[in-house]
Amino acid sequence: MIMTSTGPAIVVDRLRKRYGAFTAVDDISFTVEQGEVFAFLGPNGAGKSTTAEVIETIRAPTSGTVTVLGMDVGKRKAQVVRRIGVLPQNFSSFDRITVRESLQYYARVFGCDADIDALMDLTNLRDRSAARFNTLSGGLKQRLGIAVALVNDPEILFLDEPTTGLDPQARRQVWDVLKGLKDRGKTVFLTTHYMEEAELLADTVAIISRGRIVAIDSPVRLTEAHADQMRLTLKSIDAAAADLLRNLGFAPVPVGEGGLCVPVETPDDVRRILDEIAASGLALGGVDVRKPNLEEVFLKLTAAKPATDVGDHAR
Ligand SMILES: Nc1ncnc2c1ncn2[C@@H]1O[C@H](COP(=O)(O)OP(=O)(O)O)[C@@H](O)[C@H]1O
Ligand SMILES: [Mg+2]
Repeated sequence: MIMTSTGPAIVVDRLRKRYGAFTAVDDISFTVEQGEVFAFLGPNGAGKSTTAEVIETIRAPTSGTVTVLGMDVGKRKAQVVRRIGVLPQNFSSFDRITVRESLQYYARVFGCDADIDALMDLTNLRDRSAARFNTLSGGLKQRLGIAVALVNDPEILFLDEPTTGLDPQARRQVWDVLKGLKDRGKTVFLTTHYMEEAELLADTVAIISRGRIVAIDSPVRLTEAHADQMRLTLKSIDAAAADLLRNLGFAPVPVGEGGLCVPVETPDDVRRILDEIAASGLALGGVDVRKPNLEEVFLKLTAAKPATDVGDHAR
């Protein structure tokens, strides 16, 4: 095996990609460290696949530079592809060949002496080794795709929306595989439009919207920096509660059937509100406290802005 290089796994510098007059990726820069899971989170059409495919040497940038493990992807395509693995969006294999045959075949294509059993263990496919591709569920197909992407024992793995369209259980099984890869020190570049996936798996999340990175940080720091405050929801609360809360300096908003949503900053605020309600003898049907999550950050940062916009950016 090639000695792992020091330095970042991926450096993207002022990358731009135009398709005719349309700018799909607009001057983005970021660094992916070795061993981290880096999530590229954005709605459909944001430019995730375009960016990934430039890094993978598949598409040529309009301008800017990309290096992978210290190599310029424009100049050293052949060396780069040997050290990366790619699960494309909508992976497919030959319909009637088995999981084991698929892996053996792709290992031959890549000229690798891959340990097929180990690959199936890593992706929890061992008990499906004799199943034909067209009999596999969506989740199993994706896991086979991940195993195929690993045949050359790559240092960096690119996964383009690996769980899109999967049911929650299948999605979780793919996540388990990805966690195992991270534990083995693989660098993972993951594109997704699921915030919970980014929040759960990623060390770094870059939120991309209309070809631009609008935020980049760890999931925790992103939610701290961008989300609105905590929210206390009071269910079936007495109508008089709104005035009471306003007098305490809060800004309650009516929700649902006779409920109030109150933005708060600290658990002390929650305690104070509940104490005051109890002291006033107001009826209260239930309570829910929710911390801000990455979804709110995402929606806030990718919210549709009017006009000047070309292309399909619907989610
Ligand atoms: N080969 C292409 N020719 C023209 N437009 C393209 C091409 N590939 C992608 N696009 C457009 O570029 C934008 C970004 O696409 P893509 O990178 O696939 O986004 P994502 O993966 O985030 O959904 C979209 O508006 C898409 O329609
Ligand atoms: Mg895509």
